[in-house]
Amino acid sequence: MSSVICITGASSGIGLATAIKFADNGWTVYAGTRNVERDQELYAQHTKLHFLKLEVTQPESLQAVFDRIEQEQGHLDVLLCNAGFGFLRSLGQATFEDIQRVFDTNVYGVMHSIRGALPLLRKAAAPHIIATSSVGGIVGQPLNEIYCSSKFAVEGLLESMATYYKPLLNIDITLLEPGAIGTHFNETVFNHVAKTGGILEDEYKPIIDSFIESFSKRNTVPQTPESVADVVLQLVAMETKPLRLRTSEAAEAFVSTKVSNDPTGLESMLKVRKLQLNL
Ligand SMILES: NC(=O)c1ccc[n+]([C@@H]2O[C@H](COP(=O)([O-])OP(=O)(O)OC[C@H]3O[C@@H](n4cnc5c(N)ncnc54)[C@H](OP(=O)(O)O)[C@@H]3O)[C@@H](O)[C@H]2O)c1
Repeated sequence: MSSVICITGASSGIGLATAIKFADNGWTVYAGTRNVERDQELYAQHTKLHFLKLEVTQPESLQAVFDRIEQEQGHLDVLLCNAGFGFLRSLGQATFEDIQRVFDTNVYGVMHSIRGALPLLRKAAAPHIIATSSVGGIVGQPLNEIYCSSKFAVEGLLESMATYYKPLLNIDITLLEPGAIGTHFNETVFNHVAKTGGILEDEYKPIIDSFIESFSKRNTVPQTPESVADVVLQLVAMETKPLRLRTSEAAEAFVSTKVSNDPTGLESMLKVRKLQLNL
């Protein structure tokens, strides 16, 4: 019997690369997409890869996916909460609808996914919940306050759950923390900026100009989504699952000042577990 993974946001980027990698390594993969027919046709050669319609802002859509996995597999070994998108506007510029849209997917989408999957995960021998956070879930960055706060929320959610999920429910928890990855992520961000008036001529303009100038000078070579998929495949094979896992040396370097005392967050989590649960 092969191991079973469900991945949200698997139509492109990190989610798609991970879905293909796992399917090609013998896993049964349920890949969430908002365009099943297109993706099933495009990736039909990967026989263990099953695309299912999945919109993470709608709990009933998640339930339909988990019902199908229940019928076909009876359990779920790994849930990868990956669906998400970036957002580049200051809090002062963003509309509240935009802020809600980011949180609906990046935060509530993760909560809906985990809540829906819990009964199935608990039927697995060694279940594991992974969420794609970001280095932006550790370090706040200019004009990214909406996105970073959504990823900080995901960090707080999973870090809190990790204090007791393993001892109580036997479920491992990992926050996957990529730096820059070559996906549709930036395209989505800049499409939204373009659709909402472009670079606005307001008091934030000097900061935006500096941000864009430094971005173009940094010459960052993004990590490939396939390389992130390799990291996820190595992660699920680890005997002791880390609470936090950066996906590249560049990501590690970016957050190092903030996390140098406890890079994986494990020491701090165990301290809280001991203090508040005596476990
Ligand atoms: N790329 C980076 O530099 C970077 C860095 C750090 C963290 N991340 C995180 O990595 C994750 C994956 O992003 P990516 O870089 O692979 O970008 P991507 O290529 O744009 O992939 C995002 C995926 O999420 C899906 N998605 C978005 N909103 C959704 C919703 N409400 N319901 C269901 N699916 C939804 C997209 O589906 P559609 O195709 O239908 O839109 C797509 O499959 C995100 O959580 C992102 O925050 C990315």
